[in-house]
Amino acid sequence: MKSSVKVVPLERAKVGLLAVTVSKLNGKVPHALLGLDAALEGGIERLIASGDFKGGRDEVAVLYPPHGAQRVVLVGLGEPADATRDALRRAASIAARKAVGFGVETLGFAVAHETHGHVPPEAVGQLLIEGAGQGAWEFRQLKATDPGKGPLKAVELIVAREESAAVERGRKIGAAIAVGQKLARNLQMLPGNVCTPSYLGQVARELGRAYRFKVTVLNKAQIEKQEMYALLAVAQGSVEEPRFIILEYKGAGRAAPICFVGKGVTFDSGGISIKPAQSMEEMKYDMSGAAAVLGLFEVLGQLKPKVNVVGVVPTTENLPSGSAIKPGDVVRGQLGKTIEIVNTDAEGRLILVDALSYVRRFKPACVIDAATLTGAIVIALGNYATGLMGNDDALLSEVQRAGDTAGEPCWPLPLWDEYREQIKSDIADVKNTGGRPAGSITAGWFLREFVDGFPWAHLDIAGTAWTDAERPYLVRGPTGVGVRLFSELVLARAGG
Ligand code: BES
Ligand code: MN
Ligand code: ZN
Repeated sequence: MKSSVKVVPLERAKVGLLAVTVSKLNGKVPHALLGLDAALEGGIERLIASGDFKGGRDEVAVLYPPHGAQRVVLVGLGEPADATRDALRRAASIAARKAVGFGVETLGFAVAHETHGHVPPEAVGQLLIEGAGQGAWEFRQLKATDPGKGPLKAVELIVAREESAAVERGRKIGAAIAVGQKLARNLQMLPGNVCTPSYLGQVARELGRAYRFKVTVLNKAQIEKQEMYALLAVAQGSVEEPRFIILEYKGAGRAAPICFVGKGVTFDSGGISIKPAQSMEEMKYDMSGAAAVLGLFEVLGQLKPKVNVVGVVPTTENLPSGSAIKPGDVVRGQLGKTIEIVNTDAEGRLILVDALSYVRRFKPACVIDAATLTGAIVIALGNYATGLMGNDDALLSEVQRAGDTAGEPCWPLPLWDEYREQIKSDIADVKNTGGRPAGSITAGWFLREFVDGFPWAHLDIAGTAWTDAERPYLVRGPTGVGVRLFSELVLARAGG
């Protein structure tokens, strides 16, 4: 999907679909749309007079002008006060889905001042492209007989001259984030027989080659040398070998890097503590944290911000077999602490702790991990917010703020000492589950046991990585959650 900024009157935009976002109308055609309304021979005015379209949130009306754009779609933002960043991203996504539905190649967006409330033009440029990328996303790679109508090829932001430079700055950021998010969603969608640990390693290598940053992919023998026995324990039941992926983006000389860790379980059957067959196929997206990290590196490659970032992805399958770990087995993590594996389905935290130990060598400014870690987080927060835990209040607020700005809300859960009791083991230093009560918190506590010497935040994305509900602005399936939040946080630290 290409994107550009154009200075032309709306009525002369030659696009397959021209999208216009509008807040609730008080019975009048907004000033910025008068020219377009004239081209539609008063179509917008008649539409408003009919009462069929009021500009409410997610409301849509399609009009067919005699010349200029082939179609015009009005997308409602709701009350003027609700014309927020989220509303714009969401409206853009709805318009892009319409465009894909109509099979048009070029989508135009009217970025008229009255149509974007108090959101500054730079943000408007970013949000519209982010949203368009989100809405236009389709996954047809594995359909042999249903090619669809063809992808949306281009998005044009149609602006007034005085806003064009600011919108263009935002457009570049939005376009980069859209590419990163697309990569993440594609990876999440790919089934376990395609997206294996070595496949993720290959994707990382290709990113490194394309954007010229350092990528290291450790194979099983090298992981053994690193004494990552918790990761190896999860991997030992599989024929597919594990990988340990390290990406190093350098944009700021010798500054301490921001470090991101993503859970990369390419299929989670539960292992010997096997999951029920019902919906087990969904566990292909247990590498969504890894997808977010790889998506972030695509964004970094595109934007080249002045900041250092390290990405780490421990990746493996979790399968039962004669060589698989058994409940009760004890292993030693890279940090040195011993772990009693009471449930082989609590595998994410095992592979993550070896990554959290490994990153100490980078002397990170902070470490943020993202993982589809617990079903319990869905009980606590549903599918709306990501669970947030950690050991540093300033970092937790920073992450939460980045999530709000990026439209990926996070909510904190407490890592109080009392919860630590639940993961005490009779035989080892810790055990890998604390039972059902506060399941997300005890998982967070388990990670914390292996965090040594840096500010750390943990994002439990098990509820937000995938959506089962079809929404007007988001198709059922992978969400790419984390890419926007990570990008926002990194760009903010880089100074915009
Ligand atoms: N990958 C799952 C968590 C998950 C659940 C992700 C639902 C996405 C949607 C994780 O590895 C897991 O199995 N967790 C167990 C932990 C339990 C055994 C302590 C769970 O949540 O049931
Ligand atoms: Mn599991
Ligand atoms: Zn898992």
